[in-house]
Amino acid sequence: MTAPPRSTQALVSRFSAGLPRPMLDVASHLGAVAHAAGCTFVDNDLTACTAARAAGAPAVVHSDVLPEGVFGTIFFDARTYDPGLAAETVMQAAARLAPDGVLITTARRADVAPFFSDVTAEGEALVARAAAAAGDVPPWPVYDVAFGGQVYQIQSAPGVFSPRGLDEGTRLMLGQIQPRAGARFLDLGCGTGVVSRIASDAWGCEVTAVDVSARALRLAAGNAPAARVVASDGLAALSGGRFDIIASNPPYHTDFGVARTFIEGAHRQLASGGTLYLVVKRADWYVRKVRDLFGGCRLTEEQGYTVIAAEKRESRPGAATPAPAPTTRKHAKRQAAATAARPKRRK
Ligand SMILES: C[S@@+](CC[C@H](N)C(=O)[O-])C[C@H]1O[C@@H](n2cnc3c(N)ncnc32)[C@H](O)[C@@H]1O
Repeated sequence: MTAPPRSTQALVSRFSAGLPRPMLDVASHLGAVAHAAGCTFVDNDLTACTAARAAGAPAVVHSDVLPEGVFGTIFFDARTYDPGLAAETVMQAAARLAPDGVLITTARRADVAPFFSDVTAEGEALVARAAAAAGDVPPWPVYDVAFGGQVYQIQSAPGVFSPRGLDEGTRLMLGQIQPRAGARFLDLGCGTGVVSRIASDAWGCEVTAVDVSARALRLAAGNAPAARVVASDGLAALSGGRFDIIASNPPYHTDFGVARTFIEGAHRQLASGGTLYLVVKRADWYVRKVRDLFGGCRLTEEQGYTVIAAEKRESRPGAATPAPAPTTRKHAKRQAAATAARPKRRK
Protein backbone atom coordinates (compact mmCIF):
# COMPACT_ATOMS: atom_id res chain seq x y z
CA MET A 1 0.00 0.00 0.00
CA THR A 2 1.33 3.43 -0.90
CA ALA A 3 1.66 5.99 1.90
CA PRO A 4 -1.05 8.68 1.96
CA PRO A 5 -0.02 12.10 0.62
CA ARG A 6 1.62 14.47 3.11
CA SER A 7 -1.51 16.62 3.40
CA THR A 8 -3.57 13.66 4.62
CA GLN A 9 -0.74 12.54 6.91
CA ALA A 10 -0.71 16.04 8.41
CA LEU A 11 -4.41 15.71 9.30
CA VAL A 12 -4.25 12.12 10.54
CA SER A 13 -1.34 13.01 12.83
CA ARG A 14 -3.50 15.77 14.42
CA PHE A 15 -6.35 13.35 15.15
CA SER A 16 -6.94 12.50 18.79
CA ALA A 17 -9.90 10.89 20.51
CA GLY A 18 -10.17 13.93 22.82
CA LEU A 19 -11.16 16.36 20.03
CA PRO A 20 -14.76 17.59 20.14
CA ARG A 21 -17.35 15.40 18.40
CA PRO A 22 -19.12 14.83 16.11
CA MET A 23 -16.34 14.88 13.54
CA LEU A 24 -16.39 15.22 9.77
CA ASP A 25 -13.74 14.27 7.23
CA VAL A 26 -13.67 16.36 4.07
CA ALA A 27 -11.57 14.92 1.26
CA SER A 28 -8.76 13.08 3.06
CA HIS A 29 -7.01 10.47 0.89
CA LEU A 30 -9.06 7.24 0.93
CA GLY A 31 -11.04 8.66 3.86
CA ALA A 32 -8.08 7.98 6.18
CA VAL A 33 -9.37 10.47 8.77
CA ALA A 34 -12.93 9.09 8.65
CA HIS A 35 -11.45 5.67 9.21
CA ALA A 36 -9.48 6.81 12.30
CA ALA A 37 -12.32 8.94 13.70
CA GLY A 38 -15.25 6.68 12.78
CA CYS A 39 -16.97 9.63 11.12
CA THR A 40 -18.62 10.59 7.82
CA PHE A 41 -16.47 11.30 4.76
CA VAL A 42 -17.56 13.88 2.18
CA ASP A 43 -15.93 14.77 -1.14
CA ASN A 44 -16.95 16.64 -4.30
CA ASP A 45 -15.33 13.93 -6.44
CA LEU A 46 -17.12 10.66 -7.08
CA THR A 47 -13.93 8.66 -7.64
CA ALA A 48 -12.59 9.83 -4.25
CA CYS A 49 -15.88 8.73 -2.65
CA THR A 50 -15.72 5.32 -4.32
CA ALA A 51 -12.12 4.85 -3.18
CA ALA A 52 -12.95 5.92 0.40
CA ARG A 53 -15.89 3.52 0.49
CA ALA A 54 -13.69 0.69 -0.77
CA ALA A 55 -11.10 1.55 1.90
CA GLY A 56 -13.75 1.16 4.62
CA ALA A 57 -14.90 4.72 5.42
CA PRO A 58 -17.96 4.34 7.68
CA ALA A 59 -20.28 6.70 5.75
CA VAL A 60 -19.62 8.47 2.46
CA VAL A 61 -21.35 11.54 1.00
CA HIS A 62 -20.72 12.72 -2.57
CA SER A 63 -21.32 16.46 -2.39
CA ASP A 64 -19.73 19.90 -2.75
CA VAL A 65 -21.83 20.99 0.24
CA LEU A 66 -20.96 19.87 3.78
CA PRO A 67 -23.71 17.86 5.48
CA GLU A 68 -26.20 19.81 7.61
CA GLY A 69 -25.52 19.68 11.35
CA VAL A 70 -23.25 21.08 14.02
CA PHE A 71 -19.77 19.54 14.17
CA GLY A 72 -17.14 19.56 16.90
CA THR A 73 -14.17 18.91 14.59
CA ILE A 74 -13.93 19.20 10.83
CA PHE A 75 -10.87 17.90 9.00
CA PHE A 76 -10.43 19.32 5.51
CA ASP A 77 -7.68 18.11 3.20
CA ALA A 78 -7.71 20.76 0.47
CA ARG A 79 -5.10 19.17 -1.79
CA THR A 80 -7.45 17.95 -4.54
CA TYR A 81 -9.87 20.88 -4.36
CA ASP A 82 -9.86 23.74 -6.83
CA PRO A 83 -8.76 26.92 -4.91
CA GLY A 84 -12.17 28.59 -5.27
CA LEU A 85 -14.03 25.51 -4.06
CA ALA A 86 -11.52 25.10 -1.20
CA ALA A 87 -12.13 28.67 -0.04
CA GLU A 88 -15.90 28.11 -0.07
CA THR A 89 -15.49 24.83 1.81
CA VAL A 90 -13.60 26.63 4.59
CA MET A 91 -16.50 29.13 4.84
CA GLN A 92 -18.98 26.26 5.04
CA ALA A 93 -16.89 24.60 7.77
CA ALA A 94 -16.88 27.84 9.80
CA ALA A 95 -20.68 27.92 9.56
CA ARG A 96 -21.07 24.26 10.64
CA LEU A 97 -18.78 24.29 13.71
CA ALA A 98 -20.00 24.42 17.32
CA PRO A 99 -18.76 27.44 19.36
CA ASP A 100 -15.89 25.32 20.78
CA GLY A 101 -15.37 23.58 17.44
CA VAL A 102 -12.09 23.21 15.56
CA LEU A 103 -11.12 23.09 11.90
CA ILE A 104 -7.97 21.14 11.07
CA THR A 105 -7.01 21.77 7.46
CA THR A 106 -4.41 22.00 4.74
CA ALA A 107 -6.30 24.91 3.12
CA ARG A 108 -4.40 28.17 2.57
CA ARG A 109 -4.06 30.47 5.57
CA ALA A 110 -5.50 33.31 3.46
CA ASP A 111 -8.72 31.29 3.12
CA VAL A 112 -8.91 30.33 6.81
CA ALA A 113 -7.85 33.50 8.66
CA PRO A 114 -10.90 35.66 7.72
CA PHE A 115 -13.29 33.17 9.38
CA PHE A 116 -11.45 32.14 12.59
CA SER A 117 -9.92 34.40 15.23
CA ASP A 118 -7.47 31.74 16.44
CA VAL A 119 -5.36 30.07 13.73
CA THR A 120 -2.13 28.20 14.48
CA ALA A 121 0.17 26.20 12.22
CA GLU A 122 0.88 22.71 13.54
CA GLY A 123 3.26 20.94 11.20
CA GLU A 124 1.77 21.19 7.74
CA ALA A 125 -1.78 21.70 9.01
CA LEU A 126 -3.62 24.76 10.27
CA VAL A 127 -5.66 24.40 13.44
CA ALA A 128 -8.41 27.02 13.54
CA ARG A 129 -10.74 27.80 16.45
CA ALA A 130 -13.31 30.44 17.33
CA ALA A 131 -15.18 30.58 14.06
CA ALA A 132 -16.45 34.03 13.27
CA ALA A 133 -19.82 34.53 11.62
CA ALA A 134 -19.62 32.96 8.18
CA GLY A 135 -19.21 35.41 5.34
CA ASP A 136 -21.26 35.46 2.18
CA VAL A 137 -20.17 33.29 -0.70
CA PRO A 138 -19.27 35.69 -3.53
CA PRO A 139 -21.96 35.43 -6.22
CA TRP A 140 -21.28 32.72 -8.77
CA PRO A 141 -20.83 33.97 -12.32
CA VAL A 142 -23.56 33.69 -14.92
CA TYR A 143 -22.43 34.12 -18.52
CA ASP A 144 -24.01 34.24 -21.95
CA VAL A 145 -23.11 31.64 -24.53
CA ALA A 146 -23.97 32.58 -28.10
CA PHE A 147 -24.24 29.56 -30.37
CA GLY A 148 -26.19 28.89 -33.57
CA GLY A 149 -28.00 32.23 -33.42
CA GLN A 150 -29.25 31.70 -29.86
CA VAL A 151 -27.95 32.98 -26.54
CA TYR A 152 -27.94 30.68 -23.52
CA GLN A 153 -27.42 31.85 -19.94
CA ILE A 154 -25.06 29.50 -18.14
CA GLN A 155 -24.56 29.47 -14.37
CA SER A 156 -20.97 28.71 -13.40
CA ALA A 157 -19.17 28.25 -10.06
CA PRO A 158 -15.62 27.94 -8.74
CA GLY A 159 -14.18 24.52 -9.45
CA VAL A 160 -16.36 23.75 -12.47
CA PHE A 161 -15.21 23.90 -16.10
CA SER A 162 -15.47 26.23 -17.73
CA PRO A 163 -15.65 29.06 -15.21
CA ARG A 164 -15.71 32.24 -17.32
CA GLY A 165 -17.38 31.43 -20.62
CA LEU A 166 -17.68 28.78 -23.30
CA ASP A 167 -14.31 27.09 -23.81
CA GLU A 168 -12.99 27.61 -27.36
CA GLY A 169 -12.27 23.89 -27.76
CA THR A 170 -15.84 23.05 -26.73
CA ARG A 171 -17.16 25.64 -29.21
CA LEU A 172 -15.16 24.04 -32.03
CA MET A 173 -16.43 20.58 -31.08
CA LEU A 174 -20.04 21.81 -30.99
CA GLY A 175 -19.51 23.21 -34.50
CA GLN A 176 -18.47 19.77 -35.81
CA ILE A 177 -21.35 17.77 -34.36
CA GLN A 178 -23.96 16.64 -36.85
CA PRO A 179 -27.03 16.39 -34.65
CA ARG A 180 -30.49 15.08 -35.34
CA ALA A 181 -33.65 15.51 -33.30
CA GLY A 182 -34.32 12.58 -31.00
CA ALA A 183 -30.70 11.33 -31.07
CA ARG A 184 -29.56 9.76 -27.80
CA PHE A 185 -26.78 12.16 -26.81
CA LEU A 186 -24.21 11.67 -24.04
CA ASP A 187 -22.40 14.74 -22.65
CA LEU A 188 -19.39 12.91 -21.18
CA GLY A 189 -17.78 15.05 -18.45
CA CYS A 190 -20.50 17.71 -18.58
CA GLY A 191 -18.98 20.46 -16.38
CA THR A 192 -21.51 23.31 -16.32
CA GLY A 193 -23.76 21.38 -18.71
CA VAL A 194 -23.44 23.86 -21.56
CA VAL A 195 -23.13 21.09 -24.17
CA SER A 196 -26.22 19.38 -22.74
CA ARG A 197 -28.18 22.62 -22.92
CA ILE A 198 -27.40 23.14 -26.60
CA ALA A 199 -27.95 19.47 -27.47
CA SER A 200 -31.36 19.43 -25.80
CA ASP A 201 -32.67 22.94 -26.53
CA ALA A 202 -31.18 23.66 -29.96
CA TRP A 203 -30.94 20.17 -31.43
CA GLY A 204 -33.82 18.34 -29.75
CA CYS A 205 -31.61 15.46 -28.61
CA GLU A 206 -32.46 13.16 -25.73
CA VAL A 207 -29.57 14.10 -23.45
CA THR A 208 -27.73 12.31 -20.64
CA ALA A 209 -25.05 14.31 -18.79
CA VAL A 210 -22.42 12.67 -16.57
CA ASP A 211 -19.59 13.95 -14.40
CA VAL A 212 -17.69 12.97 -11.25
CA SER A 213 -17.94 16.44 -9.71
CA ALA A 214 -20.98 16.89 -7.46
CA ARG A 215 -20.85 20.62 -8.09
CA ALA A 216 -20.76 20.15 -11.88
CA LEU A 217 -23.76 17.82 -11.68
CA ARG A 218 -25.67 20.39 -9.63
CA LEU A 219 -24.93 23.14 -12.16
CA ALA A 220 -25.72 20.90 -15.16
CA ALA A 221 -29.11 20.01 -13.66
CA GLY A 222 -29.95 23.73 -13.47
CA ASN A 223 -28.40 24.77 -16.80
CA ALA A 224 -29.85 21.89 -18.83
CA PRO A 225 -33.14 21.03 -17.12
CA ALA A 226 -34.24 18.68 -19.91
CA ALA A 227 -31.15 16.48 -19.51
CA ARG A 228 -30.91 13.35 -17.38
CA VAL A 229 -27.99 14.10 -15.04
CA VAL A 230 -26.06 11.13 -13.62
CA ALA A 231 -23.05 10.89 -11.30
CA SER A 232 -20.72 8.56 -13.14
CA ASP A 233 -17.02 7.80 -13.42
CA GLY A 234 -16.78 7.79 -17.21
CA LEU A 235 -19.65 5.65 -18.48
CA ALA A 236 -19.52 3.22 -15.54
CA ALA A 237 -22.98 4.10 -14.18
CA LEU A 238 -24.58 3.86 -17.62
CA SER A 239 -23.91 0.25 -18.47
CA GLY A 240 -26.49 -1.01 -20.92
CA GLY A 241 -27.23 2.49 -22.29
CA ARG A 242 -26.83 3.05 -26.02
CA PHE A 243 -26.01 6.44 -27.55
CA ASP A 244 -26.08 7.89 -31.06
CA ILE A 245 -23.74 10.75 -30.21
CA ILE A 246 -21.14 11.01 -27.44
CA ALA A 247 -19.34 14.33 -27.02
CA SER A 248 -16.48 15.15 -24.67
CA ASN A 249 -13.83 17.71 -23.90
CA PRO A 250 -11.95 15.26 -21.65
CA PRO A 251 -9.90 16.31 -18.62
CA TYR A 252 -6.18 16.22 -19.28
CA HIS A 253 -4.13 13.82 -17.16
CA THR A 254 -0.58 12.95 -18.09
CA ASP A 255 -1.27 9.21 -17.83
CA PHE A 256 -4.39 9.50 -20.08
CA GLY A 257 -6.18 7.25 -17.57
CA VAL A 258 -9.52 9.08 -17.70
CA ALA A 259 -9.30 9.62 -21.47
CA ARG A 260 -8.74 5.88 -21.95
CA THR A 261 -11.88 4.99 -19.97
CA PHE A 262 -13.85 7.66 -21.88
CA ILE A 263 -12.83 6.34 -25.31
CA GLU A 264 -13.19 2.65 -24.45
CA GLY A 265 -16.52 3.23 -22.69
CA ALA A 266 -17.78 5.32 -25.61
CA HIS A 267 -16.86 2.62 -28.11
CA ARG A 268 -18.74 0.04 -26.03
CA GLN A 269 -21.84 2.17 -25.59
CA LEU A 270 -22.25 3.83 -28.96
CA ALA A 271 -25.01 2.39 -31.09
CA SER A 272 -23.91 1.06 -34.45
CA GLY A 273 -23.40 4.09 -36.72
CA GLY A 274 -23.12 6.39 -33.69
CA THR A 275 -20.36 9.01 -33.47
CA LEU A 276 -17.86 9.97 -30.79
CA TYR A 277 -16.65 13.60 -30.81
CA LEU A 278 -13.65 14.59 -28.72
CA VAL A 279 -11.82 17.89 -28.52
CA VAL A 280 -8.23 17.80 -27.31
CA LYS A 281 -5.05 19.84 -27.42
CA ARG A 282 -2.13 17.44 -27.94
CA ALA A 283 -3.87 15.00 -30.22
CA ASP A 284 -1.35 12.23 -30.96
CA TRP A 285 -2.23 9.82 -28.14
CA TYR A 286 -6.00 10.31 -28.59
CA VAL A 287 -5.86 9.83 -32.36
CA ARG A 288 -3.90 6.59 -32.00
CA LYS A 289 -6.30 5.30 -29.36
CA VAL A 290 -9.43 6.24 -31.34
CA ARG A 291 -8.05 4.75 -34.58
CA ASP A 292 -7.14 1.51 -32.78
CA LEU A 293 -10.68 1.08 -31.51
CA PHE A 294 -12.83 2.67 -34.20
CA GLY A 295 -10.69 1.83 -37.25
CA GLY A 296 -10.50 5.46 -38.39
CA CYS A 297 -11.48 9.02 -37.61
CA ARG A 298 -11.85 12.52 -39.06
CA LEU A 299 -9.76 15.33 -37.66
CA THR A 300 -10.42 19.05 -37.69
CA GLU A 301 -7.64 21.31 -36.44
CA GLU A 302 -8.11 24.92 -35.42
CA GLN A 303 -6.53 27.32 -32.92
CA GLY A 304 -4.37 24.60 -31.39
CA TYR A 305 -7.35 22.27 -30.82
CA THR A 306 -8.15 19.05 -32.63
CA VAL A 307 -11.69 17.76 -32.90
CA ILE A 308 -11.74 13.99 -33.42
CA ALA A 309 -14.89 12.43 -34.87
CA ALA A 310 -15.13 8.65 -35.08
CA GLU A 311 -18.02 6.51 -36.18
CA LYS A 312 -18.73 3.14 -34.64
CA ARG A 313 -18.97 0.48 -37.30
CA GLU A 314 -20.12 -3.00 -36.41
CA SER A 315 -17.27 -5.39 -36.94
CA ARG A 316 -18.34 -8.31 -39.10
CA PRO A 317 -16.36 -11.51 -38.80
CA GLY A 318 -14.05 -11.77 -41.79
CA ALA A 319 -14.63 -8.14 -42.87
CA ALA A 320 -11.57 -6.30 -44.09
CA THR A 321 -10.19 -3.60 -41.78
CA PRO A 322 -11.75 -0.35 -42.98
CA ALA A 323 -9.41 2.12 -44.59
CA PRO A 324 -8.62 5.04 -42.28
CA ALA A 325 -10.65 8.14 -43.03
CA PRO A 326 -8.80 11.28 -44.23
CA THR A 327 -6.73 12.72 -41.46
CA THR A 328 -7.27 16.47 -41.40
CA ARG A 329 -9.16 18.97 -43.52
CA LYS A 330 -5.81 20.29 -44.71
CA HIS A 331 -4.65 16.77 -45.52
CA ALA A 332 -7.93 15.95 -47.26
CA LYS A 333 -7.61 19.13 -49.37
CA ARG A 334 -4.03 18.23 -50.26
CA GLN A 335 -5.11 14.71 -51.25
CA ALA A 336 -7.94 16.09 -53.39
CA ALA A 337 -5.57 18.54 -55.08
CA ALA A 338 -3.05 15.76 -55.74
CA THR A 339 -5.75 13.54 -57.22
CA ALA A 340 -6.98 16.35 -59.47
CA ALA A 341 -3.43 17.08 -60.66
CA ARG A 342 -2.68 13.39 -61.39
CA PRO A 343 -2.82 12.54 -65.11
CA LYS A 344 -5.90 10.46 -65.91
CA ARG A 345 -5.26 6.86 -66.96
CA ARG A 346 -6.53 5.78 -70.34
CA LYS A 347 -8.75 2.72 -70.28
C1 LIG B 1 -12.61 19.93 -19.62
S1 LIG B 1 -14.05 19.70 -18.63
C2 LIG B 1 -15.35 19.81 -19.86
C3 LIG B 1 -16.64 20.38 -19.30
C4 LIG B 1 -17.74 20.68 -20.33
N1 LIG B 1 -18.10 19.49 -21.08
C5 LIG B 1 -17.29 21.78 -21.30
O1 LIG B 1 -16.87 21.41 -22.41
O2 LIG B 1 -17.35 22.95 -20.94
C6 LIG B 1 -13.95 17.98 -18.24
C7 LIG B 1 -15.02 17.49 -17.27
O3 LIG B 1 -14.81 16.08 -17.06
C8 LIG B 1 -15.12 15.78 -15.71
N2 LIG B 1 -14.46 14.52 -15.35
C9 LIG B 1 -13.19 14.31 -14.92
N3 LIG B 1 -12.97 13.01 -14.69
C10 LIG B 1 -14.13 12.37 -14.97
C11 LIG B 1 -14.54 11.01 -14.92
N4 LIG B 1 -13.71 10.03 -14.53
N5 LIG B 1 -15.82 10.70 -15.27
C12 LIG B 1 -16.69 11.68 -15.66
N6 LIG B 1 -16.34 12.98 -15.71
C13 LIG B 1 -15.09 13.32 -15.39
C14 LIG B 1 -14.60 16.99 -14.96
O4 LIG B 1 -15.19 17.09 -13.67
C15 LIG B 1 -14.97 18.14 -15.90
O5 LIG B 1 -16.24 18.65 -15.59
